[in-house]
Amino acid sequence: MSGQFDVVAMIGSLRRESFTARLVQGLIEVAPPSMSIAPVPLGELPLYNPDLEAQLPKPWSEFRVRVLRAHAVLFATPEYNRSVPAVLKNAIDVGSRPPGRSVWDGKPAAVVSNSPGAIGGFGANHHLRQSLVFLNMPTMQQPEAYVGHVDRVIAAGGQFTEESTRAFLTSFVSAFERWISRFAGQPAGQIG
Ligand code: FNR
Repeated sequence: MSGQFDVVAMIGSLRRESFTARLVQGLIEVAPPSMSIAPVPLGELPLYNPDLEAQLPKPWSEFRVRVLRAHAVLFATPEYNRSVPAVLKNAIDVGSRPPGRSVWDGKPAAVVSNSPGAIGGFGANHHLRQSLVFLNMPTMQQPEAYVGHVDRVIAAGGQFTEESTRAFLTSFVSAFERWISRFAGQPAGQIG
């Protein structure tokens, strides 16, 4: 971690050529030096089943430790049927348990949604926010980020092809840095 703020990125897509993953790559490029944004793999997390808590799957414990140690969480999601993809909801559920030991509690967050369509994943963005309210994650309100026509505005390497998109997402990630700094002084969590 080179920056002052360790931010974990939850990418709601497992697709090899995911636009959401590209978008996070682009955000990493334009983030201020005080932030390091690191994607956390979600595809290896077994589907949440409370029965497994007795013999904790290693990917669950590693995931929980990683999130707990981070200062903040960036949720980057595509939209599946006007909601969040199951892989992202599963990660949220895994991190939220067992009761009283949620790794999300109090962790500052931001949400960016996207779609090749025009609406930019608005439905997924707000469905996700419903869970974040319950999980007690102070989530940045403004600027909202719904990236429409994502297939046109970002290239495979994460480079923005439209200057307006680059400028907007630079301001988004800078606002997130200011948002996180409001909660600074609260150390990243530690597993007890
Ligand atoms: C989609 N897609 C989609 N797009 C959208 O704007 N609103 C939607 O509700 C849905 N629903 C939906 C459901 C399912 C099951 C799939 C597979 C796809 C299209 C989606 O935006 C597109 O596949 C993106 O490319 C997915 O994001 P990644 O994988 O490129 O990050």
